[in-house]
Amino acid sequence: MAMSHPECSSRSPWSGQLVLVTGSTGFVGRNLVPKLRAAGCTVYAPSRAEYDLLEQQRVRDMFAAVKPEVVIHLAALVGGNVPNKTYPADFCYRNLLMNTCVLHEAHQAGVRKYVTLVGGCTYPASAPSPLTESDLWNGYPQAESAPYALAKRMDIVMSAAYRAQYAFDAIVFVPGNMYGPHDHFEDGSGHVIPALIRRVLDAKRRGDPVITAWGSGSPVRDFVYIDDVCDILLREGPVYSSSEIMNISSGAPTTIRDLVDTIAELCGYEGTIAWDTTKPDGQMHKVFDITRLRERIGAFEPTPLREGLRRTIEWCQCQ
Ligand SMILES: NC(=O)c1ccc[n+]([C@@H]2O[C@H](COP(=O)([O-])OP(=O)(O)OC[C@H]3O[C@@H](n4cnc5c(N)ncnc54)[C@H](OP(=O)(O)O)[C@@H]3O)[C@@H](O)[C@H]2O)c1
Repeated sequence: MAMSHPECSSRSPWSGQLVLVTGSTGFVGRNLVPKLRAAGCTVYAPSRAEYDLLEQQRVRDMFAAVKPEVVIHLAALVGGNVPNKTYPADFCYRNLLMNTCVLHEAHQAGVRKYVTLVGGCTYPASAPSPLTESDLWNGYPQAESAPYALAKRMDIVMSAAYRAQYAFDAIVFVPGNMYGPHDHFEDGSGHVIPALIRRVLDAKRRGDPVITAWGSGSPVRDFVYIDDVCDILLREGPVYSSSEIMNISSGAPTTIRDLVDTIAELCGYEGTIAWDTTKPDGQMHKVFDITRLRERIGAFEPTPLREGLRRTIEWCQCQ
């Protein structure tokens, strides 16, 4: 399966259906909504100002007004380590409440398909790499983001519970480290690629001769281009029907050093990258196992990191 081609989108079985997308002003939503429309879906993508999903009555009103066949629930309070450590109660309360209201009201309203996403931080801190779906429950998530991660884990529990009791077709995917246009390019978002691109472009503009990066550069991660995730959502969302989660990532490991060097090169930064080895590296190897995904979609050619970065940097420079 070659991803990121327009024909992937046009083949979605959701074509012609009414799809409600929550969180459409966010990173994933801004990329997914145009693809759904291009695939012939009628998309309703309300803003938080129209329907605050923390208010159950507003969620009920939304379903009564829209009557969607499909719900793609992307709304969430999302953030990096610092906001998670500063506002753990908000991350827990808001995500639990929002997900509970949206899933329950979707079921009550007779929605036929409910799709939501949880992040890699829902995996246990001690899970071996590659992260395999069956390891999800084998430990506590990383302490800094545990209130958020456990609230997101409840998405999985609730989806399975509504499937078991009501045969409600709710599914949960686990995208890896996504990157691409519309990501949050301000520092502190917790997303490594946009933060690095921002730093390198700023350093280039100021003429800084050196950029200092944390750690040794040796840790290995995998990154997945947002278009690939959206294409898989369009293809697998309609047909995947299970209380088992499924990872969506590239399965292509890369070192942080290679990532930084590639971003610097593509940004045209001519200074030096210094590595501050007094700073922690974090987990040395953390990639996603995508066996389940490959078993379902066959050959998968993710967008090569270099090409995805080129497109992302180009988009960022046009903003
Ligand atoms: N980004 C990643 O790398 C990643 C990886 C794995 C999983 N995920 C999951 O994918 C989903 C989408 O993530 P994202 O990166 O697109 O997040 P995002 O960019 O932070 O967007 C979050 C969206 O949720 C909306 N929202 C927040 N609170 C709301 C409320 N009370 N009522 C209505 N809408 C509300 C926001 O609206 P405003 O614009 O008004 O704030 C925004 O549209 C999340 O569930 C996240 O956990 C993301």
